[in-house]
Amino acid sequence: MRVHAALALALFACIGCGDPSPARGTAFPESWRYRDTPAPVTATNGMVVTTDELASQVGVDVLRSGGNAMDAAVAVMFALAVVNPEAGNLGGDGFLVLRTAGGETAALDFRARAPFASTRDMYLDDAGEVTEDVVVGHLSVGVPGTVDGMWQIHRRFGRMEWAALLDPAIELAGGFPVRPRFLNSLGDAMVAALQAFPASAEQFLPRGGQPPAVGDTLRQPDLASTLRRLRDLGRDDFYAGETADLIIAEMERGGGILTRRDLAEYQAVWREPVAFEYRDHTVISMPPPSSGGVTMAQTAGILERYDLASLGWQSARTIHLHAEAWRRGYADRNHYLADPDFVEMPLENLTSAAYASERGATISLDAATPSSEIGPGLESAGEAATSPGATVPEEGENTTHYSIVDADGNAVSVTTTVNSWYGSKVTVTGAGFILNNDMDDLAARPGFANQFGLVQGENNAIEPGKRMLSSMSPTIVLGPDGELRMVTGTPGGATIITTVFQTISNVVDFEMDVVEAVLAPRVHHQHLPDQIFYEAGALSPETVSRLEALGHVVVERGGLSGDVQMIVVVDGLLTAWSDPRRGGRALGY
Ligand code: GLY
Repeated sequence: MRVHAALALALFACIGCGDPSPARGTAFPESWRYRDTPAPVTATNGMVVTTDELASQVGVDVLRSGGNAMDAAVAVMFALAVVNPEAGNLGGDGFLVLRTAGGETAALDFRARAPFASTRDMYLDDAGEVTEDVVVGHLSVGVPGTVDGMWQIHRRFGRMEWAALLDPAIELAGGFPVRPRFLNSLGDAMVAALQAFPASAEQFLPRGGQPPAVGDTLRQPDLASTLRRLRDLGRDDFYAGETADLIIAEMERGGGILTRRDLAEYQAVWREPVAFEYRDHTVISMPPPSSGGVTMAQTAGILERYDLASLGWQSARTIHLHAEAWRRGYADRNHYLADPDFVEMPLENLTSAAYASERGATISLDAATPSSEIGPGLESAGEAATSPGATVPEEGENTTHYSIVDADGNAVSVTTTVNSWYGSKVTVTGAGFILNNDMDDLAARPGFANQFGLVQGENNAIEPGKRMLSSMSPTIVLGPDGELRMVTGTPGGATIITTVFQTISNVVDFEMDVVEAVLAPRVHHQHLPDQIFYEAGALSPETVSRLEALGHVVVERGGLSGDVQMIVVVDGLLTAWSDPRRGGRALGY
C-alpha cells in the first residue's frame, strides 16, 4: 500500500505545495499566537504537568517525599478539585492510563454512569426536541466515579498513606490565591449560570454574587470538610456515608433522579488499554467507554500509509489526509462505540490493518469525500448519518488533563471531567463540590448533535446504569526501543482525540520537541459537521484556499482547542510543557 500511496502522492504533488521541511516554531503561520518556542522544562527525577501551578506543586511534593507517580496522580486529582473546580473534581469522572517502570500497563475507567432511574427519552419535550435539562441542573448528573477511581489506583499501586494524598487538597480548600487562570472560567454567561444555584453562587461568586478578584483568597470550607471525611473514612464516605447523604439531599432539593443505590453500586473498572503501532512507536490509550484509543488506532492506521514528513507539517496535503482519516474514524466512532458492558463492538476489526487499508483506499488524494458519502465502514453498518443541528462549539471549555512520570520511570496519564465547565452548575449544598453534566455524553436523541456537535447513535442511547461514550484520551507512547517516550493528553470535548493524535504526530512525524508539539496550532474534523475546524490564526490564507480547492469547508473557530499537558523523554531526560492555552505549569525535580 505504501508504494501505491507514494505513486498517488506524486500525482498530488502540486495540490498542497507545502514546505516539506520539519516544522519548528518559526514555521508556524505568522498569524499564530504561539510562535515563540522557549526551551522545555527538564528534570531527571520526576515531572508533573497540570493545568494549574498549585496542583503541579502538590504532585512534585508527593514525588519528592517518596511517593510514586500513582500517588502523585491521586494527590493532584484532589488538588485540582480545589484549585480547578471548573473541571477538576470530586463530582465527575475520568480515565487513567499507566505504565509501570517494569512495563506493566493498565487502564482505569472511573467514568460516570446513568442513574438507574434514567430513561431513553428523559430529555425530550413533547415535540421530541432535547431540552436544556441534559446540560444544566440536577437531571443532567451522572453517577460520579472520581473518588472510587482514586481509591482503586491507590489500593492497587499506591506507596503512600491515603491520608497524605488528601492533606494538600484540604490545605488548599482552606484558601488559595485567585489567579487569572481561574477567573478565565468565570465569564458573564458562566456567572449568570452559577447564580441560578445558591450553593454554587456562595462558593464561586463570593463578592456579592460576583467572582473573586485576582489576589483574593478563595476559601471553600464545605469542600475542606468533605475532603477531611474522605481522608479519614475513605471512599465509602462518598458512596454510602455523610457525603452520599448530602448528594442525595441535593438531588431531592433539585428534582434529580440519582439515588442511594446509584452511589452504593458505583465501581470503577480496570480495563485492558488499547495499544497500537504508529511508525514503530507503541501508543497505549484508553479503551471504551472512551472512544479515544480505538479512534486514534483507526486513524493512525490510515495515516501511516502516507509519508506525512515529506508532505510537510500542516501543508494542505497533510491536513487533507488528517481530515479524511478523521472523517472516517469519527463516522465509526459515533456509530459503533459505547459502554462495553452494554454493547458488542467490532473492536478488532475497527483497529485492524486490513480495515485501515480498506478505509484508506476510499480516500481521494485530490478531493475531499463529503461526509454524506461516508457511513460506518463495516458490513451491515447502515447509512451515512446527516447532521441536524451539528456545530462544533466555539470554545472547548471542559475537562482537564495531567501527566506524571516519577524517578523510577512509572508514567501516569489522567483525563478528568465534569463535562462542561462547572458541569451541571449544581454544587452539592454542604459538601462544596460541583456535580457533572455527563448525561449529555449519552445520545439524548440518537442521530442528533450533543453540545460538542457529535452526532452519536443508538449504541450510545440512554440506558440505566450505562457509562457515557467519551472522547477523553489519556495516552502513553513508547519509542521504537520499547522505552517510555511520551505522556500526553488534553481536554476539549470532541477535539480531544484529534488534538492528542496531533501532539504525537508532531513528535513522531515532524521531529518537534515537546514545546513545539504543544504550541503548534491544531486542526479538527469529526465527520459531522462536515467541516475542518482550525484554531484562530492557525492556518494561513493560502492553506485555507488550497483546502477549499480540494472541496473542504474550512472554518476558523472563535477560540483555541485543548490544553495539552505533555512529557517527552529525550535520551533519558524528562522534557515537558504545559499548554499556555489555559495557563498551567510543568514542574520537575
Ligand atoms: N466530557 C467530554 C468527553 O468525555 O468526551
